[in-house]
Amino acid sequence: MAARLLGEHRYPPAVLGQYNSWMPTLTVEGYGTFDVPDGKRLVLAIEQEAGVDILHACGGNARCTTCRVEFIDGEPAKQTVAERDRLTARALTGVRLSCQILCDHDMTVRAISRLQGSGRPDPGGTPQTAIMPPAEWVESD
Ligand code: FES
Repeated sequence: MAARLLGEHRYPPAVLGQYNSWMPTLTVEGYGTFDVPDGKRLVLAIEQEAGVDILHACGGNARCTTCRVEFIDGEPAKQTVAERDRLTARALTGVRLSCQILCDHDMTVRAISRLQGSGRPDPGGTPQTAIMPPAEWVESD
């Protein structure tokens, strides 16, 4: 006889399934709050879940800084070396690169770099699902 999951006898499988697949929420100011697959790149979640025309001119490779966002809540305590170095090189403060952040907890951001009004023909190549360059994590400054 197969082992029973804890609580299986109290809740129907459909209800249990809802709680077995935790998803962080992403709130984008002015757009709403959305469930996001755990670990999804923030730039992709902003574009695909929230439907925001965020720029990602370098294709999510920590080179262009057009994917920048301002955090209102839930700013990650860690960052990639690539993000740290790019923000330092551009002397950018108060912003984070959404292509270098994973949605692994609830967060609220302001999308400050959008295709609309940018004069660009498109937002840039679609970023890969994994952080590029391969993530090397450090504590945020
Ligand atoms: S730095 Fe270019 S898309 Fe993030």
